[in-house]
Amino acid sequence: MAGWRHPDAVADASVNFAYYTKLAQKAEAGKLDFLFIPDGLYINEKSIPFFLNRFEPVTILSALAAVTSNIGLVATLSTSYSEPFTVARQFASLDHISGGRAGWNVVTSPLEGSAANYSKEGHPNHDQRYLIATEFLQVAKGLWDSWEEDAFVRDKASGVFFDPQKMHRLNHKGEFFSVQGPLNIGRTKQGHPVVFQAGSSDDGRNLAAKEADAVYTNHDSLEAAKEFYQDLKRRTAAYGRSPDDLLIFLGFSPIIGSTEEEAERKYQQSANLVSIEDALNFLGRFFDHHDFSQYPLDEPFPELGDVGGDAFRFRTEGIKRQAKEENLTLRQVALQVTTRKGEFFGTPEQVADQIEHWFDSRAADGFILGEAYPGAVHEFVDLVVPILQERGRFRTEYEAGTLRGNFGLPVPVNRYTKAREIETITS
Ligand SMILES: Cc1cc2nc3c(=O)[nH]c(=O)nc-3n(C[C@H](O)[C@H](O)[C@H](O)COP(=O)(O)O)c2cc1C
Repeated sequence: MAGWRHPDAVADASVNFAYYTKLAQKAEAGKLDFLFIPDGLYINEKSIPFFLNRFEPVTILSALAAVTSNIGLVATLSTSYSEPFTVARQFASLDHISGGRAGWNVVTSPLEGSAANYSKEGHPNHDQRYLIATEFLQVAKGLWDSWEEDAFVRDKASGVFFDPQKMHRLNHKGEFFSVQGPLNIGRTKQGHPVVFQAGSSDDGRNLAAKEADAVYTNHDSLEAAKEFYQDLKRRTAAYGRSPDDLLIFLGFSPIIGSTEEEAERKYQQSANLVSIEDALNFLGRFFDHHDFSQYPLDEPFPELGDVGGDAFRFRTEGIKRQAKEENLTLRQVALQVTTRKGEFFGTPEQVADQIEHWFDSRAADGFILGEAYPGAVHEFVDLVVPILQERGRFRTEYEAGTLRGNFGLPVPVNRYTKAREIETITS
C-alpha cells in the first residue's frame, strides 16, 4: 500500500520498463525459474497505488522476453472477462516469442466492479466463475492442439505449406463457449504453455488438481501451507494424475538483514509507512472493496455476514476465523493483514534455513518471491541464492531452455498425434 513512499523506492516502478528489465535480468542471473505478473480488471480510489497505473501482463512479458533468455514468463489473465480463442492465441504467441518460456496464471476475477468494464450486466458468482474457468481452460487446451508438431511443411519446391492431416478443428459447443478453431498459430515448444491457477477454495483446488501444472498460493503458517499442499496433491491423484505433475508455489516476502536487528529495522521502516487508512483499504479489497472505515477501530472485528465473501472466499474466511479465534480488534486485523512480517526473516542464512524447512516439511514445491521493501529481490539473489546453491538445494545453471523443462514437467502430447499413435498400435 505504501511501498512507493519508501526512500529507496522507484515510485513509478509499475510503468517503468527499465525497472522491470533490471529486475528480470537480476532474477535470471539468480537462476530463478520465472517472473510472475499478477493483475486485476477493476480499480477505484482505494486500490493499491500501483494497481492504478500498471502494464497489461502479456504485453510487458512479451517485451521482457526480448531482454532475457532463460527465465519463465507467467502472466495473469482472467477467464471471466476474456475469450478462449484470444487468450490461447496470446499465450501461444508469448510461448513462440520466448522460445518456450510462457505460463498463464488462470484467475477468475474476484471483484464485482470488473463487470462494468466489460459491458456485462453482472459479475458471475463464485461457483459460476469456476464453471466458466473450467470450460475456458479446456477450450484453450483444445485450441493449443489445433496443429500437430510438424504440421507446417513449408516445402518451397512442391508448394506445400502445411499438412492438412495435421490441422484440426476443435468444434467446441459448451455451456459458455462455442469455438470452432483451428487456432491461427502453430504448436509451441512446450506443447502447451504452463498453466498456473491461483484460487484456494474447494472449486479453485479442484480446477488446479484437474487442469493445472502449477498453483500460486499464500498461507500465514507452516501448518496451513502443509495442509493445503497435502490436500491439493491428494486431489490431483484423485483425478488420475501424478501428484508430481502439479507444482505448488507459496508466496513469500523475505526480510533480509546482515543481522536480525537490521532485518527488524528494515521491517519497521516499511511497516511505519502504512497508515491505518491504508491498512483498512488493503483489508477492504479482499472483501470486494468493503468500507471498513465505518466501524470502530479498537472494538472486536465486525460481524460481516457474507459481505464481500464471494470475492476472495478462501482468504476472507481465513481472516474472519482468525479474528474470532484470537479475539482481535479491527485495527489489529487490518495492520496484521497489511504489514505481516512472516517467518522468512533475519540473516541470509536464517532465510535459507526457513526455505529449506518449509520445502522439507512438504509445504511447497517452490516459492514466489515478493518484494517486502525496495531491493529485496536483488538482496535475495546476491545473498540467499548462493547459500542455497552451496547447500546443493538450488540450481547453478538452468536445466532446460523451456519453463516446462526447468520445472521437470512433461510436454503434453498433442491429442490427435496421440490418437493416431494409439490407432497405429491397435490396428
Ligand atoms: C494467491 C492468490 C493470487 C491471486 N492472484 C490474482 C490475480 O493476480 N488477479 C486476479 O484477478 N485474481 C487473483 N486471485 C483471485 C482468484 O483468481 C479468485 O478469483 C479468488 O481467489 C476467489 O477464488 P478462491 O475462493 O478459490 O480463492 C488470486 C487468488 C489467490 C489465492
